[in-house]
Amino acid sequence: DTQLAPNAYQRATETVAYLRSELPDALKNPKVAIVCGSGLGGLAETIDPEPKVELAYAQIPNFPQSTVQGHAGKFVFGVIGPQKTPVALLVGRAHFYEGHTMDLVTFATRVCKVMGVETIIVTNAAGGLNQDYAVGDIVCLNDHLNLAGLVGIHPLRGPNVDEYGVRFPPLSDAYDLDLRKRAHKAWRELGLDKQKRRIHEGVYAFVAGPTYETRAECRMLRTLGADVVGMSTVPEIVVARHAGIRVLAFSLVTNSAVLEAGPRGDDANIQTMNKTDLDEHLGKGKATHEEVLEAGREAAKDMQALVKQILFNLHEG
Ligand code: HPA
Repeated sequence: DTQLAPNAYQRATETVAYLRSELPDALKNPKVAIVCGSGLGGLAETIDPEPKVELAYAQIPNFPQSTVQGHAGKFVFGVIGPQKTPVALLVGRAHFYEGHTMDLVTFATRVCKVMGVETIIVTNAAGGLNQDYAVGDIVCLNDHLNLAGLVGIHPLRGPNVDEYGVRFPPLSDAYDLDLRKRAHKAWRELGLDKQKRRIHEGVYAFVAGPTYETRAECRMLRTLGADVVGMSTVPEIVVARHAGIRVLAFSLVTNSAVLEAGPRGDDANIQTMNKTDLDEHLGKGKATHEEVLEAGREAAKDMQALVKQILFNLHEG
């Protein structure tokens, strides 16, 4: 059990050697990594068309293979912005619920570290718990609840890998304040504050999945202080912070988690409802993977524009 993540540094350096062997000099040392969540793979189109290299996860040594529909798995290397900042995009990610170990879930983040990445922008699709949020809103994360981590499913469990960071890393400042300010500034610069979709700051609760939450679980998460809930991101952020990478993270609210309805709410009426009303009632607010992908498609353009604007401004002091 002490070999939870054997050779965690050596495996990443092997993978980096392979990646660099496939990349021109201009792309060998990405400064920023962007993790594209469900339906947000279009972020890969925001970078310059040239130079650009795409490498499927399937061809990358040591990489976990993504199994979820709608999550094509590839690394995209390119440049963006007036400074031609070299970036690495991760289109598709490994999730814990797929059966990967936490070591594999976070492997790509460590590969980014070894390549020299200093800043990571992580995006995801999440369920909204805060009643003030609408589907399609964007949440700039300012904190998290690592629920799986708190009970021991934690990417840093096991012997510390000193090449990355210290044994007991602090996470009280995990979500970089300067980057969050830049995100809100970019939102205003794009005029996105004048439209219906809003940007919030909020707390992300990480659950292992793959089931969506029960109503009682949604109420519990809300009580604990979570604004959104999802099945990714936190392991990557933990490993990024361990390795000293600056973190910015966005959730796209793709569905609103059901809090009120339930045995304590209007389910009290189910005895007297007719079949049509009952079907409607029980289906209400039920999260489906299709719904998540659909909301992702619609809001993805704004999210892409936002990330692009942040990247364009990154060199500004
Ligand atoms: N719960 C957990 N993960 C999610 C959700 C949700 O409601 N929506 C998108 N990812």
